[in-house]
Amino acid sequence: MKTIIEPFRIKSVEPIRMTTREEREQYIRDAYYNLFSLHSDDVLIDLLTDSGTSSMSARQWGAIMEGDESYAGSPSFYRFRAAVNNLMPFKYLIPAHQGRAAESILFTVVANASHSIPNNTHFDTTRANVEAQGAEAVDLVIEEGKHPETEHPFKGNMDIEALVRFIRERGVENIPLCMLTVTNNSGGGQPVSMENIRQTREVCDRYGLPLFIDACRFAENAWFIKLREPGYEDKAVIDIVREMFSYADGCTMSAKKDGLANIGGWLAMNNEDWAVECRNRLILTEGFSTYGGLSGRDLEAIAVGLEEVVDEDYLRYRIASTEYVARHISETGVPIMKPAGGHAVYIDARRMLPHIPPLQYPGQSLAVELYKVGGIRGCEIGTAMFGLRPNGKEEPAHMDLVRLAIPRRMYTQAHMDFVIEVVSEVYENRDSLRGMKFIRQPPALRHFTGRFDYL
Ligand SMILES: Cc1ncc(COP(=O)(O)O)c(C=O)c1O
Repeated sequence: MKTIIEPFRIKSVEPIRMTTREEREQYIRDAYYNLFSLHSDDVLIDLLTDSGTSSMSARQWGAIMEGDESYAGSPSFYRFRAAVNNLMPFKYLIPAHQGRAAESILFTVVANASHSIPNNTHFDTTRANVEAQGAEAVDLVIEEGKHPETEHPFKGNMDIEALVRFIRERGVENIPLCMLTVTNNSGGGQPVSMENIRQTREVCDRYGLPLFIDACRFAENAWFIKLREPGYEDKAVIDIVREMFSYADGCTMSAKKDGLANIGGWLAMNNEDWAVECRNRLILTEGFSTYGGLSGRDLEAIAVGLEEVVDEDYLRYRIASTEYVARHISETGVPIMKPAGGHAVYIDARRMLPHIPPLQYPGQSLAVELYKVGGIRGCEIGTAMFGLRPNGKEEPAHMDLVRLAIPRRMYTQAHMDFVIEVVSEVYENRDSLRGMKFIRQPPALRHFTGRFDYL
């Protein structure tokens, strides 16, 4: 059959509150044109993030009832640990309440102001946690990954030559570790090939550097490897996942993505000295080492989620449904990042709105318009998010994108057809969109709480 169906049926539903365009114009004005400041029940289709928004399965809800809330040594922790180790067998596992908590602990322990951390592309919280230590976060994705219109099967790949050059110039003594983000969220949800993971490992071995994977979307990355990388088409996803992590010395993870859970994360590694320090830091900031800021029931939900996320029927549907939205949006003429990423469709706002220069945030203007016209909440990933440098200067980001992130197992194809229709209507009227400015901004992660207005 050509039609790929949702490999589940719906057992419990949540109503969507309908709103009018007039109401939405008022809500977004009241939110100072920052979509993070909206009340989510004023949103029709919430594509702000795929993080923590997954629908949980009946099995996960059942497992929640098994949650054991003992402060130390809960069986829920051991079930969680077994599920993680089944996929990524690192020696030390440190639960945390979400990905950025794992990042914060890691970089507090391993980084200082003389350090630089290379990555294909740092996610915004990863960059902020590196920079919070005074260290430098350096993005070394391949050239193709910087151009939305360029087709490449693995646009998230690390530029291996640039990595070698960077290590030689900066000096290994100033680099505590190398990171690789799978899939590359800020670069368009684009995958990293197994060959590239292996090559990155070889470079790290040559210079004695540990390799950490930012593992948030490891299962989606593995599915792309199976689909696109010669030699992997007949391999089971679970084996691809295990091979990916066999090249790493540790990982940070947000279980809010490919953990299919609403909260949670972890830090894992093989280095005992770092693990001891990280655990001490965990106890100071998150909680005891067998719960790390999570409840036992959260650990149970993650343990089941990790089994479900490597199910191949689920991954086939997941990646096909993202591709469906991308293809139909693209067919209406809207410039998008190609090929489709795993968890999101990225509209190229810079190309769609050439009359709005990057420092007037074309992505923000487009995201606001999608909300006004159709109640769709997307997320600017561009100059508003990344343009402010630590020295206080502002520069255009590599790209100005609007990310429509698709929550896992939540929306149906009819919801997505509505999204396609709204995007195409906004595209028809694109010349009427105007540039924006910040009227208030915090010094870091300004896109979360900053206030905007039209110029
Ligand atoms: C690639 C990547 N790394 C890290 C994080 C941070 O995870 P969390 O939101 O759980 O703190 C995210 C979240 O979106 C992400 O996409």
